[in-house]
Amino acid sequence: MSVGAQARQTGLVVTGLLTDHAPEPLGIDEPRPRFSWRLESTLRDVRQTAYRVTVRTESGEDAGAECWDSGWTESADQLGVEYGGAPLTSRTAYSWQVRVRTADGSEAESTTARFETAFLSPEQWRGEWLACVSMTPRVVAPLMRREFDLAGAIERARVYVSGLGYYELYVNGARIGDSVLDPAWTDFRSRALYATYDVTEHLVNGANAVGVALGNGWFEPMPSALPSQLQPQVILELHVDFADGRTLAIVTDRNSEWLTTIDGPILGHSIYGGETYDARREIAGWAEAGLDVAASGARWKRAIPVEPPGGVLQAQQLEPIRIVDELRPVAVHRVGPESQVLDFGQNFAGWVRVRLSGAEGTTVALRHAEMVHEDGTVNTVNLRTAEATDRYILPGGEARWFEPHFTYHGFRYVQVDGYAADLSLEDVRGCVVRSAVEPIGTFRCDNELLERIHRNVVWTEGSNLHGLPTDCPQRDERLAWLNDMTVRGEEAVHNFGLARLYSKWFLDILDTQGAATGVIADTAPHVRYGHRPADPVVSSFLLVPWLLHLHYGERRQIERNFGDLGRWVAYLDSLRVDGIIEQSEIGDWAPPVSEAVEGSAGSGAMSAVTPGGLISTGFLYLNLRLMADIASALGRTEDVADYEQRAREVRDAINTRFYDPELSRYGPGNQSSNAFPLYLGIVPEEHEERVFANLVRDIEEHDYHLTTGNLCTKYAMDVLARFGRADVAMKLLTQRTYPSWGFMVEMGATTIWERWEHVTGGVLAGMGSHNHPMYGAVDAWFYRYLGGLTPLPEEPGFGTILIEPLVPEGLSEAEVELKTPRGLLRSAWRRTDGGVRFTVVVPPNAHASVLLPRAGEDAVTEVREGDAVVWRDGRPGEPVPGVRHVSAEGNGVRVQLGSGRYEFAVSG
Ligand code: BGC
Repeated sequence: MSVGAQARQTGLVVTGLLTDHAPEPLGIDEPRPRFSWRLESTLRDVRQTAYRVTVRTESGEDAGAECWDSGWTESADQLGVEYGGAPLTSRTAYSWQVRVRTADGSEAESTTARFETAFLSPEQWRGEWLACVSMTPRVVAPLMRREFDLAGAIERARVYVSGLGYYELYVNGARIGDSVLDPAWTDFRSRALYATYDVTEHLVNGANAVGVALGNGWFEPMPSALPSQLQPQVILELHVDFADGRTLAIVTDRNSEWLTTIDGPILGHSIYGGETYDARREIAGWAEAGLDVAASGARWKRAIPVEPPGGVLQAQQLEPIRIVDELRPVAVHRVGPESQVLDFGQNFAGWVRVRLSGAEGTTVALRHAEMVHEDGTVNTVNLRTAEATDRYILPGGEARWFEPHFTYHGFRYVQVDGYAADLSLEDVRGCVVRSAVEPIGTFRCDNELLERIHRNVVWTEGSNLHGLPTDCPQRDERLAWLNDMTVRGEEAVHNFGLARLYSKWFLDILDTQGAATGVIADTAPHVRYGHRPADPVVSSFLLVPWLLHLHYGERRQIERNFGDLGRWVAYLDSLRVDGIIEQSEIGDWAPPVSEAVEGSAGSGAMSAVTPGGLISTGFLYLNLRLMADIASALGRTEDVADYEQRAREVRDAINTRFYDPELSRYGPGNQSSNAFPLYLGIVPEEHEERVFANLVRDIEEHDYHLTTGNLCTKYAMDVLARFGRADVAMKLLTQRTYPSWGFMVEMGATTIWERWEHVTGGVLAGMGSHNHPMYGAVDAWFYRYLGGLTPLPEEPGFGTILIEPLVPEGLSEAEVELKTPRGLLRSAWRRTDGGVRFTVVVPPNAHASVLLPRAGEDAVTEVREGDAVVWRDGRPGEPVPGVRHVSAEGNGVRVQLGSGRYEFAVSG
């Protein structure tokens, strides 16, 4: 029987083939890419027992030849199987397939997936960086063009290009690809990313032209990092393979005819400031062949080679930034004879596409803002120096659509000035712009406020993914702060597929690390704000690779950089004086103002109550524990013992200095000071209950409000769930007065704020971002406790899953879903007349340990198997397919499940 026929019989399907987390990537530069796949089956308890991967060369001289056959490998691995064949070659297409065998003897074969290499070594680049050197640096966006002839049938053509800060690529007048704000930002002194495009269909037998528009992008926020004469520049190679075997390369080099001009339409443009586009300066046909350069209306001259930005050129292996959605405004209000304000009803990151018409030379300005004043005009006080204004100078004639190229904004409102005609809702689109990562999580329940908070968090997280995780999308900052990520990461990896984006950002962090000292910076890239050495709270340096491992089965970072992680931890350890790290500049940042030190904006965000030494040393403890976990995942037994020993020492030092056994509290006993040690698990066991009781009492005394900053807020919520007081957590989550998430919603928030306060001006305005992910860290709580999902390190990427849902008072149902690398994982419950119904979906080749709460004395039946009795009278019932083991645990029943869909009815 053929494999296909067999698969049809058993229902086993192998699908979802990924190469280094990407479906069919074009232009990778990893010499040993890793393969992943998913299994699909209608059966329960599907377990892969063996796989066989084969890879073929698809292009070049060896086309058709097999370059790797893993052979049948007895293994359950389906994530990150590393290529082990003959060395791959650059600029070559490959295809691969996998066959899988499962425990019941079924076999299935996947369809074929492709991947293609770019330059496997940066030395293979022949192009040079070119720029338009005589321009006033970084004002007008230069255009570059080159014409060339091709003779013969074209089989395949690729462009490899990096243009800094940003570029747009055109071939024969057509815009190539749908990425925007490309490439992703890196510290160009360390690395610059290039993209690969398939342009085969765009070239013709005859005269062709390639054009590049260049923008400042992230040059501008890097004043200290780059010499002032550094300016937009491009490196590009176009490789053409003809059907008759000839090849041709058009590259940016000093000898070729690359022309450039600064007479194009994009004038002032910057990330923070916005863009001015003078449509009267458009050059018809600038990226087409046959342009009469002299008559084009622009001054063209030869592009000049310039100093490279310094970093290594690497293939961009993360999702590009794209327009991922379009919003219509919900209202337009006139605020002056030539001013109207658009309201999108949603705070988001991106820009506005607008249809305008008017007399030649009319300047229309779009000012973006998160808030409006009472008179309806935009309130931009919290943008600091960011002008966030796009301007269009109209060419006259027909109405036309305009949108910016090299900037983006964070906003809900847009004030359109200089335009007398009424804009209709049809004339405007809100372009939602972010890294095109996949949304992978959903949360639903029957409490509208909780759902609203979740939605606001997802909008906030999505507004802050632009090649790296930024802190905010609107003001003159937009930096990736590691301290925010210490709590934000867990939320983010549930809501979006971040395997590639976080892998890239982890390299950005490594770029900040001192080779000798091991120190890293607060922000990565580190160019504008943030200290180096970073504040000890930046455990995200370890958490990001750990989350990559746990959630996505991506282990290269912990494998390759274990030593780098350890060097940072060793540095922190060296800061201890009498056991304690006193240094603390950020700490439990941005608690309610009543808890914060007095001072303007940023300086008023440090906690005046929670001891910095407790927080800093606590994070050293967390790091040491993480190092032990990472070492354990890598099988480094000696390191595990060593890190555990050091963790115990740090624990004891913290308890000696900060724990008061008489009063059962840490430091001054505020919520953060008690919640953090409970979260870390360092409270002497016999004291835990009392310290926890103190935490709960304090929350009650604040009438169910938190006094925590952005780090300890997450920890307090986790601790409440872990210690059995989800009811208190629910009161905090459904709270509608200040400070709370509900208060933000009451104030009309559609995203999460930077501070608990509703900042519309005044002394806090400089810290008044309304779209800031760190307080959104709470969203992980919904997945983790209401859904009960925890991935375990034994089989990372959700191979082994703990499912322990809580069923708190006040909720009748909750449901979470997660697209894991192995397939859909679902945990849902709803109260019924006779008890609670739990639905669990475990992806194939995974297994789950499920704790059905409060089921201990009641009956549990499995509905999908005809109400088969799983548990009754304190004993397991009949065997049920997929249910491997059942036992009592506390008040609940523990059920070990193989993959599949289950529905358990718990009576009582
Ligand atoms: C950022 C925060 C960050 C803080 C640390 C702020 O400007 O927006 O997200 O945690 O600085 O100092």
